[in-house]
Formats: sequence, structure tokens, C-alpha cells
Amino acid sequence: MIECKDNLFTLHTKRTTYQFAADRYGFLLHTYYGPRAEGDFRRLIRGADRGFSPNPAEEGDARTYSLDTLPMECPASGVGDFREPMLSARFADGSSAVDLRFAGWELLPAKHMPEGMPGFHGGAEALCIRLRDAVTGLEAELFYGVFEDRDLITRAVRVKNGGGKPVVLTRAASACLDFARADLDVITFDGRHTMERIPNRAPAMPGVREASSRRGATSHQHNNFIALCGHGADETHGSAYGVALVYSGNFRAAVERSQFDTLRVVTGLSPDGFAWTLAPGETFDTPEAAFVYSDEGLGGMSRLMHRAIRENLCRGKWALAERPVLLNTWEAFYFDFTADEIVEAARAAADAGVDLLVLDDGWFGDRSSDRAGLGDWVVNEKKLPGGLGPLAKRVGELGLSFGLWIEPEMVNEDSALYRAHPDWALRMPGRAATRGRSQLVLDFSRAEVRDAVWAQLRAVLRSADIRYVKWDMNRSLTDVWSAALGPGRQGEAAHRFTLGVYDLLERFVTEFPDILLEGCCGGGGRFDCGMLYYSPQIWTSDNTDAVDRLMIQYGTSFAYPVSAMGAHVSAVPNEQTGRSVPLHTRGVVAMAGTFGYELDPRKLTEDERAEMRAQIALFRKYYRVIQSGEYDRLTDACAGGLTAWQHTLADKSEALVCAVTGPARANAPFECVYPRRLDPEAVYTVDGGWRATGAALMYGGIPIPFEKGDWRAVQFHLVREDV
Ligand code: DGJ
Repeated sequence: MIECKDNLFTLHTKRTTYQFAADRYGFLLHTYYGPRAEGDFRRLIRGADRGFSPNPAEEGDARTYSLDTLPMECPASGVGDFREPMLSARFADGSSAVDLRFAGWELLPAKHMPEGMPGFHGGAEALCIRLRDAVTGLEAELFYGVFEDRDLITRAVRVKNGGGKPVVLTRAASACLDFARADLDVITFDGRHTMERIPNRAPAMPGVREASSRRGATSHQHNNFIALCGHGADETHGSAYGVALVYSGNFRAAVERSQFDTLRVVTGLSPDGFAWTLAPGETFDTPEAAFVYSDEGLGGMSRLMHRAIRENLCRGKWALAERPVLLNTWEAFYFDFTADEIVEAARAAADAGVDLLVLDDGWFGDRSSDRAGLGDWVVNEKKLPGGLGPLAKRVGELGLSFGLWIEPEMVNEDSALYRAHPDWALRMPGRAATRGRSQLVLDFSRAEVRDAVWAQLRAVLRSADIRYVKWDMNRSLTDVWSAALGPGRQGEAAHRFTLGVYDLLERFVTEFPDILLEGCCGGGGRFDCGMLYYSPQIWTSDNTDAVDRLMIQYGTSFAYPVSAMGAHVSAVPNEQTGRSVPLHTRGVVAMAGTFGYELDPRKLTEDERAEMRAQIALFRKYYRVIQSGEYDRLTDACAGGLTAWQHTLADKSEALVCAVTGPARANAPFECVYPRRLDPEAVYTVDGGWRATGAALMYGGIPIPFEKGDWRAVQFHLVREDV
């Protein structure tokens, strides 16, 4: 519900309230965000004469009103607020002050979607606040989406040059959240290639803590979802805020604790190198930011994010549909395969119950290693005589559907595309381009480059019965200079690249709505709400080691649902860590994602093949509770020892409790797992055998079988007796 009265704007969701107000000078002040509460929070706005905190001219000689100390809804730079700004600009006369004042509001019939960019959708109320700088004519429209049932609030900005001369935007963040208190912890999700999104939690300290990327993609190093929570908040109790950015390129999420112990969160495009010229009358749309708040701790926050992502971000027929169990060829074959070998692997996979064969890298151009071929999206007939059609058909005859890997944004210098169009790669004038994985990045800001890649890809996608595509991206952007932009506009290139990626993704989902699209960026380098708008699942990490995956999937689950996390059982010793983990454990861990295999099933023993068959059958049995159930992290996976999690249907009629023990210890203590959020009064049957009330299970725990060995996995299936 949106209430607008006396320049006070109150946005209520079912369990949260967000409020801001235009004050006597037209500055937009943030007054409250937290548990649902009625009333006018302007009483919290206070002023004092603070040294070195300047006062607007309207204040005359009074000194108690300063933008430097007030909670701002859309802070801009140059007029007295020295904290992180959302907006900065350079004007034709060289000045850079942005003084935005309230200029009106309206309720919108539909939620704003940033132009050419992803956003949450469906069932939101929408508000637009207009701000204007009287001197420069710069205008900002602040868009709010209120998803009442989801406890989700979205924000985005449209900046317009309402003046008569060009303006260069140098910062254009999506949202700001000012808290009147600083006693919160900040959680960022950080890591590296093959070890993504490991949570790091620390109290907000004076100064700025940021998660950001200058890599042209969200990055393996820092995710663009961050959380804030009370110092004492845990998985079940306390205040927890989630701050997401619906974007997949350079970003910056900054949390600043000010001199007066207030906290400011600003999230949006990275200002690093960003400069966007607006001619008179032109507009610029920022990506969308999204907030959730829960007083049920971090678990509650995650469940809000999961539901909103599944039901209000992912689109198309696959968003909520049952996904296929797949066999991916990468770790089994890398670049070295023949059509017959793929068919034989598919035969073994079909025998175990797999639904989909994904032919990963290596099927196109002159691609016998990662040094050649990217950009040439034509089938390598030496490996696959007759093309993909006959292969997909042979795989289809085994009862499997067929999927394919692509990496549209990239080019190898050793490719026909590059030889024909060397200027299509990003490159600084006069310099050799920096290579990453022996490849260069195509300038996706240019429509003709995207058109050429798309013409090739759509021909491939039409050449065979292809039901799934994995869209990969295997290097960070460097040399970000576009031949299509003049020297004065290179600050636009990185964002234009991301817009270009979205353009191609949109063409893909529009023209091939039935294909299941899985995002990928060397695993989880572009795992964000932006990509999830196009691809409902993303390859979580190139690390398939089940033990490392416990941590990676744990961290990823703070924002992203199980149904978004690509997870595969791979061979042992593991390719990334050299570790050997029991097949059962690998299965249990991969089942906490979209589930599939990434090994050569022909190489499995009969017993292992039987186990694979049993795993797939079990996954199908548990599919509903795993993929559409609510998620609980029962332990801290990064703490070592027992790692446990739980999937529970919303009506609490069924739950699946999963646990993996740590490395073996001699004469070890007994261990139990403690389920959560069951119906305390109801009686549950555990694995069709023993019975106990929800309360007995939650408070007494479920004993983990006492056995020797590292990394043993168990699952307990709880079914309420009335079901
Ligand atoms: C990186 C991906 O994450 C892998 O799964 C695989 O598809 C390779 N790229 C192929 O080059």
C-alpha cells in the first residue's frame, strides 16, 4: 500500500514500512525502513549546529540544518552532503553541484522497468517522485515498486537533462538507504574463481565498506547482493535487510558509517570510469535495486529473496517448471570428443535416468583448445559430421533432450570472425589488447557486432532440436574502449556493453522461449538478479568439489534460491581440489541445486551406475520440496564440522533435512541435526519409519548415524502424518 499525504510517502508491504518525505526546502529525507509501523517518522529528523557541516543558503544564519547530517533519499554531490552520493554530474560550465528538490509525485499504473534492463515484475504498486535542480535543469524521477505480499521494495532512477546544454553524469546509482543508526553488521559475499560468494560479516565501522566490480561482470570476487543485520541477528532471529542490484556489470554497493553513527547504503552502477553524456532532453535509466526486510533473521531475509526471485524476477515457462536432470560433457571430455563418444555417454546417462545431454565447449569452429574458435558459431564437422541435427536426433532416440554451450560475448584472435573484424574486439587505440584465457571481448555495445553474433547463433539454434543452452562468459573486461563511441564518450562503454548483453539475451528469450537457458561466467562470475531475469538457473561455480560446494552453495543461498543454483555430481578425485568424496555425498550436495552430472557415465562401475540411478529417482521424489520448498541454513557451512540445511514446503507438511559431516575424527562425539519451522504439534514420519512430533524433532534433534569416514551425507525425509 502506498500512502501519499502532506509530502509524506509511506510504502507498506505486509510486514514492512518504508517512508520518506519532502521537507520545507524540497529536500527528500528518508525517515524509516523496517518492520511495519504506522505513523509519521518525521519526528526522527533532528538538527544541531555541527562544525564543518554546511547549511543551505535558505537557512540564512541558522546552522542546524545540514544535508551532511540528514538522512537523504536521493543524495547528490556538491551541495553539502559529504557522504556517498547517488548522483553526480558535470555541467557545460564546469560546475558539478547537483541540487535536487521535490517537484511532484504520481502513482503509476504499472511498475517502472528500466529501459533495456531487467527488473522485478508482477503485482506491484508503483510510485514516481520527481526531483529537479532549478539552476541546471537536471531532473530525476525516482521509481518505487511495492510488492506487498513479497515484502519487497524496488527502486530505480531516470535522470533527464532538462537544461539546454549537454550534461555528463559521473555517478548514477540506483538507490540509497539511510539508517539513523549504525549498530548493524554488514555481510558481503566475496571470493574468487572456483570459490564464490563466501559470506563475510563484520560490524559497520567508520568509513566505507564496499562490494564492487570493475571487471565488466558482477564478478567471482564480490556479489552485488549485500545484507545488513542486527549485531545479534542469526538465522532465525533479529533484523535483516537484503539489498540486491538487478544488474550484471560493473557495480558498487557501499555502506558508509558516518561521523554521527548513521549508516548509508548506496548501490548501483560503479562510478569508476563512468561518464554518460546527456544531450538536452535525453534521459538515462539506472538499473533497479531491490530491498527486503525480515525480522525473522537472515533465514527470513533469504526466504523473501528466494520467493521474489522465483516468482517475480525469473520469467518464462522454465521459471517455476520442473527442470531436467542433465549430463554435462565438460569435465568428462573437455575439447576432446567425437559424436559417437557423446552418444555413448548419452546412452549410459539415459540408462541412469538423465533427461538432458548438454554438449559443452568444443563443438564449433576450430575449437580443439581454448585458444581458437570463439566467434565462429558454426559446427565443427570434423568432430560432428553432419552437424548438430543428427547428433541431437541420436541423443533424442535414447530418450534424452539435447542442450548446447555458447559464449557469445567472446572472440579468439584465431577465428574467422576476428580475422574479418579485428576492430570488433574491445581494445585501446594503439595498444595490443590484454588477453584472458587467450580470448578477447567483443564490443557488445555495437549493434552490428551483436547482430552478426546473433545471426550465427540463431542459425545454430534452428539447426537442431535444442532444448537447453548454457550461456558462458570466460574473462573479465579490459581495454574497454569502443570504436563506435567518440573519445569523449568512452565512459559509457562498460555500461553499454552490459546493455548489449541484455539486448541479446532478450532476443534469445523472445525468439526461443522454450529453450531452458542457464547462465554461466566461468561458473559463478555473473550470478546476480540481472541474469536471473533471463536465465532461471546459473552455473554456481566451476568448482564441483562437494565439500567446497557446501560453502559456495551456503553463501549463494543468502540471496538466491535452490532453483537458480546449477549443481552437478562430478568424478573423483575432483578436478579442482583433488579430493575424493563419496558418491552419495556428491549426490546429496548436488541435490541442493538444479542437479545433474558432469562426468563420463561410461566410466562408472555397475554399482556406481546403480547409485546414480537411485540418486536421480530420489531427486525426482524430493523435487517439489527441494525446488519449491522454503530453505533453512541449519549450520554455518564455513565453520567446518557438520553442515546441514533443510527444505520445507510452505504448509510444513513435508521437509527434507540434509547434512554432511566434516572430516573424520577418531572417537568422535555424537552429532545431531536440528530441523526448524516444523509444525510443533503435528506428528511427522521420518523416512517412512519412526515418528515424532515436530517439537520433538526440532528441540531433541535427529541423530546422525555414528560411522567412520570423511564427509558422510544423510537425508531425512519428514512427512506430516495427515498428508
Ligand atoms: C567455464 C564454465 O564454467 C565451464 O563449466 C565450462 O563450460 C567451460 N567454461 C567451457 O569452456
